[in-house]
Amino acid sequence: MSEHRLRYNRIGVLTSGGDCAGLNAAIRAVVLRAHSHGLTVIGILAATAGLLERPLRFIELEPSACDVRMLRRGGTILETVNKGNPFAYPMPDGSVADRSEEAIAGFRALNLDALIGIGGDGSLRILARLAEQGGIPFIGVPKTIDNDVAETDWSIGYMTAVEAAVDALDRLAPTAASHRRVMVLEVMGRDVGWIALAAGIAGGADVILVPEIPFDPEIICERLRDRYALGHNHALVVCAEGIKLCSGEAVYQTMVDGEIRHAGAGQAVADLIANATGAETRVTVLGHVQRGGAPCAFDRILASALGSHAVDLVVHGKTNRVVIQQKGKTTDVPLSAVAGKTRALKEDNSLMQVARRLNICLGDNP
Ligand code: F6P
Repeated sequence: MSEHRLRYNRIGVLTSGGDCAGLNAAIRAVVLRAHSHGLTVIGILAATAGLLERPLRFIELEPSACDVRMLRRGGTILETVNKGNPFAYPMPDGSVADRSEEAIAGFRALNLDALIGIGGDGSLRILARLAEQGGIPFIGVPKTIDNDVAETDWSIGYMTAVEAAVDALDRLAPTAASHRRVMVLEVMGRDVGWIALAAGIAGGADVILVPEIPFDPEIICERLRDRYALGHNHALVVCAEGIKLCSGEAVYQTMVDGEIRHAGAGQAVADLIANATGAETRVTVLGHVQRGGAPCAFDRILASALGSHAVDLVVHGKTNRVVIQQKGKTTDVPLSAVAGKTRALKEDNSLMQVARRLNICLGDNP
């Protein structure tokens, strides 16, 4: 038996942050690869919140429980939370508490040698901090429909979200044409426009608005007027939820539980278009449909590649890294290169260049 095999016998895996399609495919890849190395895999339930509960919430993941159905299954069998930061844990009385040492104690009690955390930018930042504080050998696997994890070209779940948005545009186009309407589709993405841009290109949008590009309402309306003047009887506008309006502010809503979420950008854009052009305008807010459902083939393959690579890193004792996909290759970078960073659209991104070459209106004057 190799030195590394002696060192890492039992690994934990968890999913953290908002769910997305492809998480189960990633868990499956971790389990299959780990078992081929003779490692036991413990699935920690509900992200780090599962480490705070007593008794601890976990399940042993046997390969038999990770058959091919896991590839197709949406959500995460391990459950997840996106507001359970152990460094600022929301307590029942409304206060927040640092429960990080409890989470580390929970990890130790499971007798685990390493942790694989499947998470987005926020989760990876928190898990990196926890791993450093607790001396936990850690590997991060990037997932988020927002596709904003630093260093990796693709995060698990993104392409499935794009597919959902493209499907929505395909359905909106005929009804828009029947009624000579402008259809505004609001898509998720938090503070970045990756979903909006890819879906808008693939779905044939006339206008795509992303948070990275401040937009001029007059440029949008001029494009729509020109389109109708050319004889088209409808238009499609894709609007990322995180765009900043003319005031320079994004639009948020405070939920009943006090959480603040983007909401209302699509309606604001639709109102602006209707007022300025007189066009009949309707809004569709796609919401969590983008996160649910079966993963597309791309996400199944990506999840399989990243999950299995994560296990190989553990086996080789190469921890405190994040597995990534760059220029078509699965590789890894130090955790410090990813944790606390984010990846927004830039002019030199190929998606941006495609949109510019197709003369899609991005709301600015390039
Ligand atoms: O980060 C993923 C994401 O789906 C964002 O695109 C969106 O703004 C947010 O999470 C929604 O969060 P929640 O599930 O808490 O409503």
